[in-house]
Amino acid sequence: MNLPSRVKLVEVGPRDGLQNEKQPVPAAVKIELVHRLQDAGLTEIEVTSFVSPKWVPQMADNAEVMAGIARKAGVRYSVLTPNAQGFEAALKTRPDEIVVFAAASEAFSQKNINCSIAESIERFAPVVAAARAAGVYVRGAMSCTVGCPYEGEVAPAQVGYLAGLMRGIGVQHIGVADTIGVGTPLKVQRAIEATLKHYDLADVSGHFHDTYGQAVANTLASLQMGVWQFDTSVAGLGGCPYAKGATGNVATEDVVYLLHGMGIETGIDLDKLIDAGQFISDFLNRKSGSRAATALFNKRLG
Ligand code: HMG
Ligand code: MG
Repeated sequence: MNLPSRVKLVEVGPRDGLQNEKQPVPAAVKIELVHRLQDAGLTEIEVTSFVSPKWVPQMADNAEVMAGIARKAGVRYSVLTPNAQGFEAALKTRPDEIVVFAAASEAFSQKNINCSIAESIERFAPVVAAARAAGVYVRGAMSCTVGCPYEGEVAPAQVGYLAGLMRGIGVQHIGVADTIGVGTPLKVQRAIEATLKHYDLADVSGHFHDTYGQAVANTLASLQMGVWQFDTSVAGLGGCPYAKGATGNVATEDVVYLLHGMGIETGIDLDKLIDAGQFISDFLNRKSGSRAATALFNKRLG
């Protein structure tokens, strides 16, 4: 086994985690969540998205949230930008990184960003160029790399095709997302393999939603291929408004528990992370979606 000795987690709870929440979450709560996450040792935080507020009302306070964060040295803050309009608004808030997001399935591309895959690439190309010219790092996300809520199973060739397009327009890092959490380890490995034809291992990350309870297994399967970067969401928050029924990303606490248990370093303080998860779960008035956080929290109570 070719396991990495250190793993980098990108905390996507403030963005992927909260974007689907129906109840308004005040900017102050989002900012406090980011502060707690950085205090827990997360060094990469996906804060918000500069998408249309008509499509995703919960992210309408994007600029306010970015402005309210007391930035910590060594922490990188990223935001989603679907088009030039979003990028221009985002740039004013000084992100370290932007994320352009495309889908491996045509139907999901239409539902999520209202254009075809080819059109999305055309839209991203000038955004990627402008970001790089401004010294902002560009990450790409590929949705539906194993399954699509509208088209069913997605072939690895479609993932490879999209990865090639993203590479072609200068996207520097690529995330392989199982948006609806239907993937199982071998399918996820095939999607990653297809991606590795276009990107180096060091520029690939996994993004696994946990709808079918497979996300920890899929994380392990990726680790076994040498992948060492993952998007995770505190308390397992989240879901995509255009992927009905899909639950949140794999919980950050569960992945940290997995990694530390295997002797793999993350730089994260699990106790502080559990407190951050408890903070947002209390605000949302629901139980944490993390099994490890729940177990450890109950143990604390004795
Ligand atoms: P559209 O309606 O085709 O856009 O939406 P348009 O260019 O025709 O503009 C229509 C209106 O939207 C105009 O306003 C624009 O100003 C406005 P109006 O004149 O009608 O008042 N507009 C914007 N406003 C603010 N910010 C912008 C922006 N762009 C246009 N950036 C668009 C196209 C891409 C904007 C829309 O489809 C959209 O916002 N989609 C975002 C959907 C989304 O956020 N999905 C969730 C994130 S992706 C995800 O979760 C997956 C991921 O986690 C990986 C995985 O798990 O798979 C990343
Ligand atoms: Mg997602």
